[in-house]
Amino acid sequence: MSLLSIQNLKMHFPVRGGVLMRSIASCKAVDGISLDVGTGETVGLVGESGCGKTTLGKAIVRLLEPTDGSISFDGQDITHAGIRTLRPMRRHIQMIFQDPAESLNPRHTVRDLLEEPFIVQKLGTKAERQTWIADLLDKVGLSSSAADRFPFEFSGGQRQRIGIARAIALKPKLIVCDEPVSALDVSVQSQVLNLLLDLQKEMGLSYLFIAHGLSVVKHMSDRVAVMYLGKIMELAPAQELYNNPKHAYTKALLDAIPVPDPAKRRKRQLLQGDVPSPINPPEGCAFGHRMSHPRWKDSVGMDLSLKEVSPGHWVQPCPCCVS
Ligand SMILES: Nc1ncnc2c1ncn2[C@@H]1O[C@H](COP(=O)(O)OP(=O)(O)OP(=O)(O)O)[C@@H](O)[C@H]1O
Ligand SMILES: [Mg+2]
Repeated sequence: MSLLSIQNLKMHFPVRGGVLMRSIASCKAVDGISLDVGTGETVGLVGESGCGKTTLGKAIVRLLEPTDGSISFDGQDITHAGIRTLRPMRRHIQMIFQDPAESLNPRHTVRDLLEEPFIVQKLGTKAERQTWIADLLDKVGLSSSAADRFPFEFSGGQRQRIGIARAIALKPKLIVCDEPVSALDVSVQSQVLNLLLDLQKEMGLSYLFIAHGLSVVKHMSDRVAVMYLGKIMELAPAQELYNNPKHAYTKALLDAIPVPDPAKRRKRQLLQGDVPSPINPPEGCAFGHRMSHPRWKDSVGMDLSLKEVSPGHWVQPCPCCVS
């Protein structure tokens, strides 16, 4: 049984307009996603800006209530769980946010920020919590003197370490890591990624690791899901996806990875423009539509749900993007 199991999940936001601010359309940020994460597994989730990655992450940790579909964690359905079920659940599912500067309250010291999860869960005495805070700082490679400083006194990489310390405080089983290194300098990125890998080994954590490009997730993930406009286009074990991509969008993301050796560069298919708006998305294959593929029309009206092409390798059976 998977630790996390998502079935046909949808997260639609109402778009309001007119004088009465009625709902006039819906923004289909996440539109029918099924995905599992096993114990100790890292699943990478990759896609361009605006394709719905953060929304999916927030729905999983239940900061958002899904419009449709289901989420089950450790065998328990949490799709519409209320606060009573969610509070104990929150110990086990945590999220690390894209921008650590925004997710940490600037008026709280690191000590307050790290103590808060224990207080919310009513864990430990004041003295015990201080020992746990010291342990956490040590685990994420910060000195104990960091406890009495404020988030703005730290560099971006150190701030993300505080975000990670907060996420692991309650010894969760799953962490949704939402682009945890994209705001960081390249030299610091690998330090933070290594910290996440070490913590995973030590604590047996599972990660849903979100990134916008395929390069970051390569060394982190057991499996990788490629997302486009609220849907998964391709899902496969990491090596398989990198060696044998099937979907044109996955190929385009692979082509976007910088290759230092010019002799090894292949002809690139560059992505033009942005991901189209999830309000009134095109019919049929959204990527074929964006690339004005001559066979896009063939995909309209087709069942594009993922098909298994080899063990564990799933792809949308789209006539224009899959050859
Ligand atoms: N609370 C909200 N209300 C309405 N629309 C929203 C809301 N949150 C997100 N959206 C819309 O959902 C879509 C997906 O947004 P999301 O933040 O999930 O994308 P993302 O893949 O995380 O992008 P990025 O890589 O830039 O972080 C966007 O079109 C966004 O405008
Ligand atoms: Mg995001």
